[in-house]
Amino acid sequence: MNQIYLDNAAATKVDDFVLEKYLQYIQEFWANPSSYHSTARLVRAELEKARIEISQIIGSLSQEVFFVPSSTIANNIVLNSFENIIGFDFEHPSIEKQLINRNQKILQIDSSCVINLDKIIEVIDDKTELITLMYVNNIVGTIQPIAELCKRLETINTLRIKNHLPAIRVHSDCSQAFKYLDCKVKELGCDMMTLSSSKINAPKGVSVLYVSKDVHLNPIFLGGSQEKGLISGTENVPAILAMMEAMKKLDFDRKKTNEHFAKLKKYLLNSIQSEDKISVLGVEKNVAGIVLFGIHGVEQETILTALDLDGFAVGSSSSCSTGAIEENRFLRSIGYGKDFDSIIRISFAQDTTLEQIKLFVVSLKNIIAKLSN
Ligand SMILES: Cc1ncc(COP(=O)(O)O)c(C=O)c1O
Repeated sequence: MNQIYLDNAAATKVDDFVLEKYLQYIQEFWANPSSYHSTARLVRAELEKARIEISQIIGSLSQEVFFVPSSTIANNIVLNSFENIIGFDFEHPSIEKQLINRNQKILQIDSSCVINLDKIIEVIDDKTELITLMYVNNIVGTIQPIAELCKRLETINTLRIKNHLPAIRVHSDCSQAFKYLDCKVKELGCDMMTLSSSKINAPKGVSVLYVSKDVHLNPIFLGGSQEKGLISGTENVPAILAMMEAMKKLDFDRKKTNEHFAKLKKYLLNSIQSEDKISVLGVEKNVAGIVLFGIHGVEQETILTALDLDGFAVGSSSSCSTGAIEENRFLRSIGYGKDFDSIIRISFAQDTTLEQIKLFVVSLKNIIAKLSN
């Protein structure tokens, strides 16, 4: 299959260097890191080295880094440990569905696709224990003001502690963010953070959960005592090591990557700006690698099929569940079904070329001209 792949917010291809390392790690470090013998102890040592390397990248202590099989599980572990939570309607379903099912406070995002800090502060009450807010949104790519939120909470928490109220903890799902922004926990000020291997050119099946040493989380699965009993199950050491390699590489290349994405985005936006059937959403404060279009006059399935047949892999919203758009309250709140008949998400890879974007623009314009009603 030789499609032009523009759906990197859903999944990224494993980087060549990371793949090479991964294959080596699978051959060398396959023993169970919890066993006693020397072969296992070697694997344990590599696992702990990865924990230290990753903690240095995110600026935490190594004992604050936990390895989890997916961001969905990491997010569920966090939310499950708190009773009173404030969240947002544009969070990933692994958070949003917990908020809905447990009748928690869910704030709506307006068309800017960036949260309003005052609105959050307004809804805090004596019982509030956790605010969960993603750093970069997976659908529209907007950057959320986590550091500003945590700063404002500092003063609020000082007062709460004086009044014997629980300090409000902040969790940030940074699964999308790490590709574009350095996610340093002290600079952001968050107490918990989720990172994903599948969005950063590493093999799928690993997420990192940062948990401040001052926070206690409860396991959701019972089993062995891996990861201090928080996440039972044998650690996937080769994939963890590959994620560490991918993080180091991304961290080093980030500036160059963002500059490349900015050029692609600029071309893309310039070339569709005079199209009256295409609107760009949330573009003011988003990362350079994600662009969300609202399309007028062509139905969702029709445009996705036409682009697919034309050789372009694009995202529809979030690929995490079939029919995601119909269910997605956030997209509805920013105009899907009212102002737009379809939504497509373009997300770049480091090797996406300007030539590919030019081909995409031609295809998109042709499809809309041919199929719009
Ligand atoms: C922001 C965000 N959080 C969580 C997830 C879920 O990740 P996983 O598939 O590793 O459970 C995704 C996947 O798209 C995501 O974009």
